[in-house]
Amino acid sequence: MSHLLSLLLLGILVLSSGCSSNRKSFVILSNLQSGNNIGDVCRNALAFNVHEVLVVGKPNFKEKLRGSDRGAKSRLVFKHYNSIAEAATYLRTQFPNTLICGIEIMESATSIASYPFQEAINYCFLFGNEGGGLSQKQREICDKFLYIPQYASGGMASINVACASAVVLSTFANQARYSETTIRNEKFI
Ligand SMILES: C[S@@+](CC[C@H](N)C(=O)[O-])C[C@H]1O[C@@H](n2cnc3c(N)ncnc32)[C@H](O)[C@@H]1O
Repeated sequence: MSHLLSLLLLGILVLSSGCSSNRKSFVILSNLQSGNNIGDVCRNALAFNVHEVLVVGKPNFKEKLRGSDRGAKSRLVFKHYNSIAEAATYLRTQFPNTLICGIEIMESATSIASYPFQEAINYCFLFGNEGGGLSQKQREICDKFLYIPQYASGGMASINVACASAVVLSTFANQARYSETTIRNEKFI
């Protein structure tokens, strides 16, 4: 049975058993160059309730963030792997009802604006390099691909990768119906 089909069946089983879904999101940090972008992705991961950040390589990545994470690095759960394949194996064994989504501008990708994230399925998001996008190795572990629609023809080839992470993680958190954090003094507390 294909991975996608077994995930679909699992989702139907959980729903029909009356369990409410508690969908988790994950981010794989691999192949990003800029410390500022990594820090911003971490900041977004904390803001949008990401369960774990899987870091591939980059053992000293926290030193390069220069505060851009706004303290998120000490509050997120990080797991470390030597290769993207190892990170995928961890996810598929520990969280078997997880779809890995490559976030990339591709003709074959699905628009996140119309994609219904499935109930009872966790989602792991993988973002591409600032220069070259998702590598072949990164693409090989993905179950599907999502893109963020853009609206100005001839205007801009892509958006910043950390901004892309905010759009994706916010869209998922919203659909997963995570509880909104309280606002006080014009800040989330
Ligand atoms: C600067 S973009 C590179 C995009 C492009 N594939 C390239 O190589 O020119 C870096 C990353 O940001 C994310 N990204 C930026 N804009 C996006 C969009 N509109 N839809 C999906 N992903 C986007 C993707 O993860 C992408 O790999």
